[in-house]
Amino acid sequence: MSVSTLPALQIGNLNIKIPVIQGGMGIGLSTYNLAGAVAALGGMGVLSSAALDRIVTERHGRKFNHRDAAAQDVIDAKKLANGGIIGMNIMVALINTYEDSVLGSMDGGVDAIISGAGLPMALPEIVKLHPRASEVALIPIVSSGRATEVIFKRWSRSGRLPDALVVEGPLAGGHIAWREPEQALGPANELSNLIKEVLEVCKNWNHSIPVIAAGGIYTHEDIVKFLDLGCGGVQMGTRFLATHESGANAEYKKLLVDCQEKDIELANKPGSPCGMLFRVLKQSPFYVEALSFARAPKCNKGYLLNKGNCSAKLENDKAFCICNGLLSSINLEANEKNLYTVGQTASRIDKILSVKELMEELITPDFQNLNIMTNEIFPEVSAL
Ligand SMILES: Cc1cc2nc3c(=O)[nH]c(=O)nc-3n(C[C@H](O)[C@H](O)[C@H](O)COP(=O)(O)O)c2cc1C
Repeated sequence: MSVSTLPALQIGNLNIKIPVIQGGMGIGLSTYNLAGAVAALGGMGVLSSAALDRIVTERHGRKFNHRDAAAQDVIDAKKLANGGIIGMNIMVALINTYEDSVLGSMDGGVDAIISGAGLPMALPEIVKLHPRASEVALIPIVSSGRATEVIFKRWSRSGRLPDALVVEGPLAGGHIAWREPEQALGPANELSNLIKEVLEVCKNWNHSIPVIAAGGIYTHEDIVKFLDLGCGGVQMGTRFLATHESGANAEYKKLLVDCQEKDIELANKPGSPCGMLFRVLKQSPFYVEALSFARAPKCNKGYLLNKGNCSAKLENDKAFCICNGLLSSINLEANEKNLYTVGQTASRIDKILSVKELMEELITPDFQNLNIMTNEIFPEVSAL
């Protein structure tokens, strides 16, 4: 790879040579080989703890409980990472497996835990239960200054403040922090405004930590823009979803290349049982069925919230069972239809790249124009 001109991202003792975190993508999308490849090339590769017991059991052909599966996923990614940095994304909403995911990832030697989809209030206390507590960076995902303030207050009582913060704006893939589309997409919630709010709270607490921007970041120039705003790095999901190494199946990747802005929607009534908006590709067969209310209410997995208490079990006009749809998309749920989540920038994807090609693009200034020029001036070279 070329030499990066972007400054390294330092989180506690972790030196991330390229200030790009590949966002965790559940279920089964930010696989050990995606995270391993990103880490080996100098970024931070991030796994997702969602349904890892099933995924790792399938991969290794023997039964894993959730804690051991989280450990094994980290070990598998680390084998590919060539000494690079591996994180685990653990959604607060996955309440039944939260503690096992944290402790299992730490057993496996994880470098950082990134936790959102709810406020990770209990994280510092859970981490204390493990002998590696001081070796793991803790990185909450927030979407406002207010949430940052709440976390700082609560965590200060545990004697540990975050090592970095991911600030995720309304253009991100997966769940976003808002409940209504009009609210999410209002000008006050533009990512740069949220970043300013969060930086202000960090300043008030005299806690100088890297703030990492996420949601809608696509090019090298986008990265530079957020570094100039005072961020230490960025977290990107959709661009890594559109790589050969991601766990997305062939239909998912084809839709990523073909989709336009009008094909991307914030699912809401019916939406995710987490109660947060969930960005989907309209053509997802599962979503088409949910929109026509043709699906019976269902919750037979119990990953989200407490078993028996998931709103997708009770009615189908407000929520649908995302666990079944997402598991189906990675071939782990027979007789179900696929549900595809993407970020808003999916409409700009025109090609599936390797992680190496993508990282090269992200560290290269003016890559898009350079590419057009190369194609025009040296068509015989670009045809090679
Ligand atoms: C397909 C997909 C699945 C995602 N799943 C999760 C998840 O399980 N947990 C989480 O905290 N964030 C999840 N995210 C958010 C990403 O980690 C990241 O913050 C976000 O994608 C950044 O926005 P971008 O897609 O515009 O780059 C997901 C994003 C995508 C695209």
